[in-house]
Amino acid sequence: MAAKPLAITLWQQPIVLYRDSQGQVIALEDRCPHRQVKLSEGTVAGDRLVCAYHGWQFAADGRCAHVPYLEPQQKLPTCALRRYPVQELDGFIWLFPGDEALAASRPPLGVPEWEHLNFIGSSAVIDVQAHYSFLIENLMDMYHGHLHGAAQVWANPVLADLQTDENQVFAHYDAESYYRIDKIWSATQLLIPALRKLHPEPLDVAYQYPHWVASLGDDFKLYCLFCPMDETRTRAYLLHFTSLGRFTKLHKTPLAVRRFFKTTFTNSASFVLRRLIREDVLMLEQEQQAFEAHPAYKGPELNRTLTAVQQLIRQQAAVAQEA
Ligand code: FES
Ligand SMILES: [Fe+2]
Repeated sequence: MAAKPLAITLWQQPIVLYRDSQGQVIALEDRCPHRQVKLSEGTVAGDRLVCAYHGWQFAADGRCAHVPYLEPQQKLPTCALRRYPVQELDGFIWLFPGDEALAASRPPLGVPEWEHLNFIGSSAVIDVQAHYSFLIENLMDMYHGHLHGAAQVWANPVLADLQTDENQVFAHYDAESYYRIDKIWSATQLLIPALRKLHPEPLDVAYQYPHWVASLGDDFKLYCLFCPMDETRTRAYLLHFTSLGRFTKLHKTPLAVRRFFKTTFTNSASFVLRRLIREDVLMLEQEQQAFEAHPAYKGPELNRTLTAVQQLIRQQAAVAQEA
Protein backbone atom coordinates (compact mmCIF):
# COMPACT_ATOMS: atom_id res chain seq x y z
CA MET A 1 0.00 0.00 0.00
CA ALA A 2 1.39 3.40 -1.01
CA ALA A 3 1.79 6.39 1.35
CA LYS A 4 -1.37 7.79 -0.18
CA PRO A 5 -4.52 6.61 1.56
CA LEU A 6 -6.40 3.87 -0.23
CA ALA A 7 -10.17 3.86 -0.69
CA ILE A 8 -12.08 0.59 -0.60
CA THR A 9 -15.75 -0.29 -0.34
CA LEU A 10 -16.78 -3.26 1.73
CA TRP A 11 -20.47 -4.06 1.67
CA GLN A 12 -21.65 -0.45 1.19
CA GLN A 13 -19.17 0.91 3.72
CA PRO A 14 -16.60 3.37 2.33
CA ILE A 15 -13.33 2.67 4.15
CA VAL A 16 -9.94 4.36 3.95
CA LEU A 17 -6.74 2.43 4.60
CA TYR A 18 -3.37 3.95 5.37
CA ARG A 19 -0.11 3.09 7.11
CA ASP A 20 0.98 4.93 10.25
CA SER A 21 4.60 5.93 10.93
CA GLN A 22 5.33 2.39 12.19
CA GLY A 23 3.95 0.85 9.00
CA GLN A 24 0.84 -0.46 10.77
CA VAL A 25 -2.28 -0.55 8.62
CA ILE A 26 -5.11 1.63 9.92
CA ALA A 27 -8.68 1.35 8.61
CA LEU A 28 -11.13 4.21 9.17
CA GLU A 29 -14.49 5.27 7.86
CA ASP A 30 -13.90 7.14 4.60
CA ARG A 31 -16.12 10.13 5.39
CA CYS A 32 -14.85 13.33 6.92
CA PRO A 33 -17.18 14.25 9.80
CA HIS A 34 -16.86 17.92 8.81
CA ARG A 35 -18.38 17.97 5.30
CA GLN A 36 -18.56 14.24 4.56
CA VAL A 37 -16.02 14.26 1.73
CA LYS A 38 -13.78 11.24 1.24
CA LEU A 39 -10.74 11.20 3.50
CA SER A 40 -9.05 8.97 0.95
CA GLU A 41 -8.61 12.15 -1.15
CA GLY A 42 -6.32 13.44 1.60
CA THR A 43 -2.81 12.67 2.77
CA VAL A 44 -0.99 10.92 5.60
CA ALA A 45 1.06 12.96 8.08
CA GLY A 46 2.92 10.74 10.55
CA ASP A 47 0.22 8.71 12.30
CA ARG A 48 -2.61 10.95 11.16
CA LEU A 49 -4.89 11.19 8.19
CA VAL A 50 -5.33 14.72 6.83
CA CYS A 51 -8.54 15.68 5.05
CA ALA A 52 -7.96 17.26 1.64
CA TYR A 53 -10.65 19.92 2.07
CA HIS A 54 -9.86 21.98 5.22
CA GLY A 55 -6.92 19.98 6.54
CA TRP A 56 -8.53 18.55 9.68
CA GLN A 57 -6.40 15.74 11.04
CA PHE A 58 -7.58 12.42 12.42
CA ALA A 59 -5.64 10.11 14.72
CA ALA A 60 -5.39 6.37 14.20
CA ASP A 61 -8.20 5.83 16.73
CA GLY A 62 -10.49 7.91 14.50
CA ARG A 63 -10.66 10.98 16.76
CA CYS A 64 -10.26 14.48 15.40
CA ALA A 65 -6.77 15.50 16.57
CA HIS A 66 -6.15 18.87 14.91
CA VAL A 67 -8.01 21.67 13.13
CA PRO A 68 -5.58 24.13 11.51
CA TYR A 69 -7.77 27.22 12.12
CA LEU A 70 -9.10 26.46 15.61
CA GLU A 71 -9.58 29.72 17.54
CA PRO A 72 -8.18 29.91 21.10
CA GLN A 73 -11.62 29.73 22.71
CA GLN A 74 -12.74 26.82 20.51
CA LYS A 75 -12.42 23.15 21.38
CA LEU A 76 -11.64 20.34 18.99
CA PRO A 77 -14.85 18.74 17.70
CA THR A 78 -15.54 15.49 19.52
CA CYS A 79 -16.59 13.69 16.34
CA ALA A 80 -14.83 10.40 15.68
CA LEU A 81 -14.55 8.16 12.66
CA ARG A 82 -15.43 4.52 12.91
CA ARG A 83 -12.30 2.45 13.19
CA TYR A 84 -12.20 -1.10 11.82
CA PRO A 85 -10.16 -3.99 13.21
CA VAL A 86 -7.59 -4.80 10.56
CA GLN A 87 -4.47 -6.91 10.27
CA GLU A 88 -1.90 -7.94 7.72
CA LEU A 89 -1.39 -11.64 7.22
CA ASP A 90 0.04 -13.79 4.41
CA GLY A 91 0.35 -10.94 1.92
CA PHE A 92 -3.19 -9.59 2.43
CA ILE A 93 -4.93 -7.00 4.57
CA TRP A 94 -7.85 -8.57 6.46
CA LEU A 95 -10.51 -6.23 7.71
CA PHE A 96 -13.37 -7.14 10.04
CA PRO A 97 -16.42 -5.08 9.04
CA GLY A 98 -18.76 -6.40 11.75
CA ASP A 99 -19.18 -5.70 15.46
CA GLU A 100 -15.69 -4.84 16.73
CA ALA A 101 -16.26 -6.88 19.92
CA LEU A 102 -16.51 -10.05 17.81
CA ALA A 103 -13.34 -9.45 15.77
CA ALA A 104 -11.02 -11.46 18.03
CA SER A 105 -13.32 -14.49 17.83
CA ARG A 106 -13.30 -14.40 14.00
CA PRO A 107 -9.67 -14.83 12.95
CA PRO A 108 -8.89 -14.24 9.29
CA LEU A 109 -8.78 -17.27 7.03
CA GLY A 110 -5.09 -16.77 6.16
CA VAL A 111 -3.24 -18.09 3.13
CA PRO A 112 -0.22 -20.01 4.49
CA GLU A 113 0.96 -20.94 0.97
CA TRP A 114 1.54 -17.25 0.12
CA GLU A 115 4.94 -17.09 1.85
CA HIS A 116 5.70 -20.81 1.93
CA LEU A 117 8.69 -21.73 -0.25
CA ASN A 118 7.08 -25.02 -1.32
CA PHE A 119 4.29 -23.24 -3.17
CA ILE A 120 4.34 -21.14 -6.32
CA GLY A 121 1.49 -18.66 -6.30
CA SER A 122 -0.42 -16.85 -9.03
CA SER A 123 -3.17 -14.34 -8.50
CA ALA A 124 -5.74 -12.32 -10.41
CA VAL A 125 -8.42 -9.85 -9.41
CA ILE A 126 -12.09 -10.50 -10.09
CA ASP A 127 -14.25 -7.41 -10.57
CA VAL A 128 -17.77 -8.41 -11.40
CA GLN A 129 -21.01 -6.46 -11.58
CA ALA A 130 -22.98 -9.10 -9.73
CA HIS A 131 -24.07 -10.10 -6.25
CA TYR A 132 -21.36 -12.09 -4.49
CA SER A 133 -23.62 -15.13 -4.14
CA PHE A 134 -23.47 -15.67 -7.92
CA LEU A 135 -19.68 -15.89 -7.65
CA ILE A 136 -19.76 -18.29 -4.70
CA GLU A 137 -22.25 -20.51 -6.56
CA ASN A 138 -19.99 -20.45 -9.61
CA LEU A 139 -16.94 -21.46 -7.58
CA MET A 140 -18.75 -24.27 -5.78
CA ASP A 141 -20.25 -25.64 -8.99
CA MET A 142 -17.62 -27.91 -10.49
CA TYR A 143 -20.07 -28.83 -13.24
CA HIS A 144 -19.42 -25.56 -15.08
CA GLY A 145 -16.09 -26.75 -16.55
CA HIS A 146 -17.92 -26.78 -19.88
CA LEU A 147 -17.43 -23.02 -19.96
CA HIS A 148 -13.64 -23.14 -19.66
CA GLY A 149 -12.68 -25.93 -22.05
CA ALA A 150 -8.94 -26.58 -22.12
CA ALA A 151 -8.19 -23.86 -19.52
CA GLN A 152 -9.75 -25.98 -16.79
CA VAL A 153 -7.24 -27.85 -14.59
CA TRP A 154 -9.66 -30.66 -13.79
CA ALA A 155 -12.16 -32.76 -15.70
CA ASN A 156 -15.09 -35.14 -15.19
CA PRO A 157 -16.06 -34.20 -11.62
CA VAL A 158 -18.70 -36.29 -9.83
CA LEU A 159 -20.10 -35.02 -6.54
CA ALA A 160 -19.26 -37.69 -3.94
CA ASP A 161 -19.72 -35.99 -0.56
CA LEU A 162 -21.46 -32.88 0.72
CA GLN A 163 -21.27 -31.52 4.25
CA THR A 164 -22.67 -28.33 5.62
CA ASP A 165 -22.90 -26.43 8.90
CA GLU A 166 -23.80 -22.88 9.88
CA ASN A 167 -20.51 -21.46 8.54
CA GLN A 168 -19.55 -23.60 5.59
CA VAL A 169 -20.44 -25.90 2.76
CA PHE A 170 -17.88 -28.55 1.88
CA ALA A 171 -18.16 -30.56 -1.34
CA HIS A 172 -15.94 -33.42 -2.40
CA TYR A 173 -15.89 -34.33 -6.07
CA ASP A 174 -14.18 -37.39 -7.53
CA ALA A 175 -12.45 -35.82 -10.48
CA GLU A 176 -9.54 -36.09 -12.87
CA SER A 177 -6.63 -33.75 -13.32
CA TYR A 178 -4.73 -32.93 -16.48
CA TYR A 179 -1.60 -31.95 -14.65
CA ARG A 180 0.97 -33.72 -12.55
CA ILE A 181 3.62 -31.48 -11.07
CA ASP A 182 6.49 -33.90 -10.62
CA LYS A 183 9.05 -32.75 -13.17
CA ILE A 184 10.86 -29.48 -13.36
CA TRP A 185 9.32 -28.85 -16.77
CA SER A 186 5.78 -29.73 -15.60
CA ALA A 187 4.75 -26.11 -16.10
CA THR A 188 5.02 -26.63 -19.86
CA GLN A 189 1.77 -28.63 -19.56
CA LEU A 190 0.11 -25.26 -19.15
CA LEU A 191 1.23 -24.27 -22.63
CA ILE A 192 1.28 -27.60 -24.49
CA PRO A 193 -1.97 -29.55 -24.08
CA ALA A 194 -0.45 -32.67 -25.71
CA LEU A 195 1.74 -33.13 -22.60
CA ARG A 196 -1.26 -33.42 -20.30
CA LYS A 197 -2.52 -36.79 -19.11
CA LEU A 198 -5.77 -37.28 -17.28
CA HIS A 199 -5.51 -39.14 -14.00
CA PRO A 200 -7.87 -39.40 -10.99
CA GLU A 201 -7.53 -36.72 -8.31
CA PRO A 202 -9.85 -35.69 -5.47
CA LEU A 203 -11.31 -32.22 -5.87
CA ASP A 204 -12.42 -30.53 -2.64
CA VAL A 205 -14.18 -27.18 -2.58
CA ALA A 206 -15.48 -25.27 0.40
CA TYR A 207 -17.45 -22.11 0.96
CA GLN A 208 -15.92 -20.94 4.24
CA TYR A 209 -17.84 -17.76 4.80
CA PRO A 210 -17.07 -15.40 3.23
CA HIS A 211 -14.28 -17.05 1.21
CA TRP A 212 -13.72 -20.09 -0.98
CA VAL A 213 -10.98 -22.69 -0.63
CA ALA A 214 -10.27 -25.60 -2.96
CA SER A 215 -7.69 -28.28 -3.55
CA LEU A 216 -7.04 -30.64 -6.42
CA GLY A 217 -5.05 -33.64 -5.19
CA ASP A 218 -1.72 -32.73 -3.64
CA ASP A 219 -0.57 -30.45 -6.44
CA PHE A 220 -2.97 -27.51 -6.43
CA LYS A 221 -4.53 -25.26 -3.84
CA LEU A 222 -6.89 -22.44 -4.72
CA TYR A 223 -8.52 -19.59 -2.84
CA CYS A 224 -10.97 -16.91 -3.69
CA LEU A 225 -10.92 -14.10 -1.14
CA PHE A 226 -14.11 -12.08 -1.14
CA CYS A 227 -14.56 -8.35 -0.84
CA PRO A 228 -18.23 -7.78 -1.77
CA MET A 229 -18.84 -4.07 -2.39
CA ASP A 230 -22.63 -3.97 -2.51
CA GLU A 231 -25.60 -5.92 -3.88
CA THR A 232 -24.42 -5.70 -7.48
CA ARG A 233 -20.66 -5.27 -7.31
CA THR A 234 -18.15 -7.81 -6.08
CA ARG A 235 -14.40 -7.72 -5.92
CA ALA A 236 -12.50 -10.90 -5.16
CA TYR A 237 -8.95 -12.20 -5.37
CA LEU A 238 -8.40 -15.53 -7.06
CA LEU A 239 -5.24 -17.31 -5.90
CA HIS A 240 -3.72 -20.44 -7.34
CA PHE A 241 -0.84 -22.33 -5.73
CA THR A 242 1.18 -25.11 -7.28
CA SER A 243 2.86 -27.35 -4.73
CA LEU A 244 6.53 -28.20 -5.05
CA GLY A 245 5.97 -30.97 -2.50
CA ARG A 246 7.26 -33.66 -4.88
CA PHE A 247 10.57 -31.86 -5.56
CA THR A 248 12.48 -33.16 -2.58
CA LYS A 249 15.84 -32.25 -4.11
CA LEU A 250 14.76 -28.63 -4.38
CA HIS A 251 13.89 -28.61 -0.66
CA LYS A 252 17.54 -29.40 0.13
CA THR A 253 18.90 -26.44 -1.84
CA PRO A 254 19.87 -23.20 -0.02
CA LEU A 255 17.02 -20.91 1.00
CA ALA A 256 18.19 -18.23 -1.46
CA VAL A 257 17.79 -20.70 -4.36
CA ARG A 258 14.32 -21.72 -3.19
CA ARG A 259 13.33 -18.06 -2.84
CA PHE A 260 14.66 -17.30 -6.30
CA PHE A 261 12.69 -20.23 -7.73
CA LYS A 262 9.50 -19.07 -6.01
CA THR A 263 9.92 -15.44 -7.11
CA THR A 264 10.78 -16.37 -10.70
CA PHE A 265 7.66 -18.45 -11.20
CA THR A 266 5.24 -16.34 -9.17
CA ASN A 267 2.24 -15.36 -11.29
CA SER A 268 3.23 -17.78 -14.07
CA ALA A 269 -0.38 -19.08 -14.11
CA SER A 270 -2.03 -15.64 -13.89
CA PHE A 271 -2.81 -15.56 -17.61
CA VAL A 272 -4.85 -18.77 -17.21
CA LEU A 273 -6.64 -17.32 -14.18
CA ARG A 274 -7.48 -14.17 -16.13
CA ARG A 275 -9.01 -16.23 -18.94
CA LEU A 276 -11.10 -18.25 -16.46
CA ILE A 277 -12.23 -15.00 -14.81
CA ARG A 278 -13.18 -13.40 -18.14
CA GLU A 279 -15.33 -16.41 -19.02
CA ASP A 280 -16.95 -16.56 -15.58
CA VAL A 281 -17.59 -12.81 -15.37
CA LEU A 282 -19.50 -12.90 -18.65
CA MET A 283 -21.85 -15.53 -17.21
CA LEU A 284 -22.16 -13.93 -13.75
CA GLU A 285 -23.08 -10.52 -15.12
CA GLN A 286 -25.72 -12.09 -17.33
CA GLU A 287 -27.10 -13.95 -14.31
CA GLN A 288 -27.27 -10.67 -12.38
CA GLN A 289 -29.00 -8.81 -15.23
CA ALA A 290 -31.47 -11.66 -15.73
CA PHE A 291 -32.17 -11.71 -11.99
CA GLU A 292 -32.94 -7.99 -12.06
CA ALA A 293 -35.28 -8.50 -15.01
CA HIS A 294 -36.99 -11.57 -13.49
CA PRO A 295 -36.42 -11.49 -9.70
CA ALA A 296 -39.05 -14.14 -8.94
CA TYR A 297 -37.75 -16.67 -11.45
CA LYS A 298 -36.23 -19.83 -9.99
CA GLY A 299 -34.42 -22.10 -12.43
CA PRO A 300 -34.01 -25.85 -11.92
CA GLU A 301 -30.82 -26.70 -10.01
CA LEU A 302 -29.36 -30.19 -10.32
CA ASN A 303 -26.13 -29.79 -8.33
CA ARG A 304 -26.91 -30.44 -4.64
CA THR A 305 -23.89 -28.34 -3.67
CA LEU A 306 -25.61 -25.25 -5.02
CA THR A 307 -28.82 -25.96 -3.13
CA ALA A 308 -26.76 -26.21 0.07
CA VAL A 309 -24.88 -22.97 -0.71
CA GLN A 310 -28.12 -21.10 -1.40
CA GLN A 311 -29.63 -22.39 1.85
CA LEU A 312 -26.60 -21.26 3.86
CA ILE A 313 -26.53 -17.80 2.24
CA ARG A 314 -30.25 -17.37 2.97
CA GLN A 315 -29.69 -18.42 6.61
CA GLN A 316 -26.80 -15.98 6.91
CA ALA A 317 -28.91 -13.16 5.46
CA ALA A 318 -31.73 -13.95 7.92
CA VAL A 319 -29.31 -13.90 10.89
CA ALA A 320 -27.83 -10.59 9.68
CA GLN A 321 -31.31 -9.07 9.43
CA GLU A 322 -32.17 -10.12 13.00
CA ALA A 323 -28.94 -8.59 14.33
S1 FES B 1 -14.44 18.39 4.89
FE1 FES B 1 -12.81 17.45 5.85
S2 FES B 1 -11.82 19.04 6.86
FE2 FES B 1 -13.54 19.99 5.99
FE1 LIG C 1 -15.21 -20.84 -13.64
